Amino acid sequence: MIEDNAQGFGAEYKGKKTGSLGGIACLSLFPTKNLGAYGEGGMAVTNDPALAERMRRERTHGWKGKYFSKKEGVSTEVYYPLPPHLAEPCQKPGFKRGDFPDAERASQETLALPLYP
Ligand SMILES: Cc1ncc(COP(=O)(O)O)c(C=O)c1O
Repeated sequence: MIEDNAQGFGAEYKGKKTGSLGGIACLSLFPTKNLGAYGEGGMAVTNDPALAERMRRERTHGWKGKYFSKKEGVSTEVYYPLPPHLAEPCQKPGFKRGDFPDAERASQETLALPLYP
């Protein structure tokens, strides 16, 4: 169960804190909420370590460490140091180094510079 605890933070139901009744609780941190942030914000919380790990990965579209996706079906860009076919999700179909030499070369040679705004 995913609990919407945006208006219930700090409340109790049958002796249990709201936000701890299901597997995951979501909170809007919009300033009008019980727990407001300065501006827009939100969070999802859990006591379940496996769900927490999955939520961390979902937050970054499947990336566990920087540049290393653990989730299948997530598109990536070749300017990352690890081309998509060498990421863990692509090991199951059997891709290996050398299968896409252009992508491997591009991942070693392409530089991505952050721009703002
Ligand atoms: C109970 C509840 N859940 C979710 C939301 C959505 O919050 P947000 O607009 O920050 O996504 C609201 C906002 O009014 C709310 O009252």
